[in-house]
Amino acid sequence: MKDTLELLRARRSVVAKAMVPPGPDAEQLAVLLEIAARVPDHGKLTPWRFVIFEGEARERFGEILSERFAELNPDAGDPEIAAEAARFLRAPVVICVVSRTAPHPKVPEWEQVLSAGAVCQNLLIASSAMGFASQWITEWYAFDENTRAAIGLEPHEKVAGFVYIASAAEPPGERARPVMSDVVSRWAG
Ligand SMILES: Cc1cc2nc3c(=O)[nH]c(=O)nc-3n(C[C@H](O)[C@H](O)[C@H](O)COP(=O)(O)O)c2cc1C
Repeated sequence: MKDTLELLRARRSVVAKAMVPPGPDAEQLAVLLEIAARVPDHGKLTPWRFVIFEGEARERFGEILSERFAELNPDAGDPEIAAEAARFLRAPVVICVVSRTAPHPKVPEWEQVLSAGAVCQNLLIASSAMGFASQWITEWYAFDENTRAAIGLEPHEKVAGFVYIASAAEPPGERARPVMSDVVSRWAG
């Protein structure tokens, strides 16, 4: 219990560009996904799914990203285009959490979206507990129609996040956190 609280109080994201190998092996990844899927889900709709990028698939996806980036940014130089090609090489494993909502008589789509957010957060917590570095990212390619289609998303599906999982080159420093009195109030009627 204490360990869990300590983990949650200290957990930090590690920016993808500061990631180094190794990432989770196949067994660890299976555990991470199982934990990620264990989230509150009103109506048991499973309004999310996973697309895993690992190994050589990350390079092939990078080719798609760089081509699309060049198409969208005709003035982009070679270094920028090369950076796009290398995006998914920043971590050994990138998990695309896909939000897939559908109209439901009792469960608003907003609640289905929130469940996908909980999946992403579970991935961050569980990967931290395993000693890995992780970051929840969207970046431009989460919102680009062509790239989303290349990932295999249906028109009604959205990217909730790309969760990059690797190791940290060095432990991250703390970042500014909300002042609790700014965000907590007590309802007084
Ligand atoms: C939905 C969502 C999308 C995000 N997209 C990005 C992004 O594209 N690029 C980025 O640098 N950080 C992004 N972040 C922020 C990082 O995941 C993270 O909040 C930040 O690195 C500090 O996190 P920490 O409080 O876990 O240390 C996103 C966060 C969320 C919740």
